[in-house]
Amino acid sequence: MAADGAFQGKVAVVTGAARGIGEAIAVAFRDEGAVVFSIDPGEPETPQAGIRYLAGDVSDAESVAAAFAAVDREAGRLDVLVNNAGIQRVALAQSMSHADWYGVLNTHLSGMFLCSAEAIRRMRPQRSGAIVSIASVAGILGIPGRGPYSAAKAGIISLTRTLALENATANIRVNAVAPGFTRTKLIEQGIKDGSIRSEWQLERVPMKRLADPREIADPVLYLASDKASYITGQTLVVDGGWMVQGINHVPDWLDADKSEG
Ligand SMILES: NC(=O)c1ccc[n+]([C@@H]2O[C@H](COP(=O)([O-])OP(=O)(O)OC[C@H]3O[C@@H](n4cnc5c(N)ncnc54)[C@H](O)[C@@H]3O)[C@@H](O)[C@H]2O)c1
Repeated sequence: MAADGAFQGKVAVVTGAARGIGEAIAVAFRDEGAVVFSIDPGEPETPQAGIRYLAGDVSDAESVAAAFAAVDREAGRLDVLVNNAGIQRVALAQSMSHADWYGVLNTHLSGMFLCSAEAIRRMRPQRSGAIVSIASVAGILGIPGRGPYSAAKAGIISLTRTLALENATANIRVNAVAPGFTRTKLIEQGIKDGSIRSEWQLERVPMKRLADPREIADPVLYLASDKASYITGQTLVVDGGWMVQGINHVPDWLDADKSEG
């Protein structure tokens, strides 16, 4: 998205913006003129100019309340919330520890609930606001070993619809973006520990490459912007065509890439 100041004078909170997709989203809002706060327990890997980093854990109600109180003190309003914070734990259900099950659900789904509730309390009196949450294709497709992750992401898609309905007349829009494979530490870690293999991405993804975090940030900005003013309750899949692929083998005579030489 070319910077045209679409978020000038607006205040955005992005959870989990110390790195990865969250960092790309925070930077994109900053570039469009927004005052941006990150809520993340970790130090930013590459601190970005103009982003206010608040230490906070989205799965902890007190921590979330304290972070939003800091936004109140420093900015006095809230226009956009992006629920991005996330973790991954991979194991079959029968081997998954309770700590991992609850840790993943609490970070993704309870985190979305807690932060969205804080945001809605601030946006309703303004009668404006936008919430965008990061789901995943894992919330739509089955992926072995990702029980809590997939369930949490499906929950995010569902809670998006509920919050959209509850706030439609208050002019607060609530949407989600469901990324496919995106080049971040989360994926690099999976490739390193063997839970993800890069050839799957080449085989499964029609565009034959991972997304760059910026390619997830741009649709988030679109959904949060006035250009999406009649869109609410939706989940936009951003996956290089992964989810629409029925058959991934094309005979040579039908393959445009080959016939075009
Ligand atoms: N990378 C992908 O391929 C991919 C695909 C689909 C969806 N997603 C989703 O995108 C989001 C970002 O993923 P990423 O790949 O950038 O991961 P990442 O691991 O690079 O970054 C995640 C960030 O969230 C923060 N975080 C973790 N727990 C937190 C908590 N309790 N409170 C606040 N912040 C917390 C981390 O400190 C980190 O800065 C996640 O929700 C993830 O599930 C990623």
